[in-house]
Amino acid sequence: MYDFRIDAADKAEMYKDLGQALQALVADEPDGIANMANAAALIWETLPDLNWAGFYRNVGGELVLGPFQGRPACFRIPFGKGVCGAAAATGEVQRVDDVHAFAGHIACDADSVSELVVPIMRDGELLAVLDLDSPKPARFSGEDELGCVALAEIIAKAI
Ligand code: SME
Repeated sequence: MYDFRIDAADKAEMYKDLGQALQALVADEPDGIANMANAAALIWETLPDLNWAGFYRNVGGELVLGPFQGRPACFRIPFGKGVCGAAAATGEVQRVDDVHAFAGHIACDADSVSELVVPIMRDGELLAVLDLDSPKPARFSGEDELGCVALAEIIAKAI
């Protein structure tokens, strides 16, 4: 049984603990899908105010739904489409305070208002994106971005 309880007072500390828990969780498992599944579950359990947390994988130049927590979501997203597609096409983090103001946003869950998408890269190649959605406007701060980039680096070595 895994029982990670992360209850740090400030965000930087929380992301440090979350990164350590994630590292411990994926350390001995070679299967990338299994690691993404437990990473999605750990992030979902730890970060407040999310309505979706999970992965889209780069499968032959298209984003295909991977392990996640939340409501059923779009299966496939072309590079360049929506927030995830923008992250995949540019290789840059997309931090969106209000998805309704983002041209081409793909509404998988009508409750989503803000979104953070972090590319997961290894050796200059896009493996997947980590996608977090929130029903709260501007849920994701610069600190969340930094924290999730660090999580993506751990995940990149485990998938
Ligand atoms: N809103 C995303 C699509 C994926 S879902 O949020 C799970 C986007 O615009 O890329």
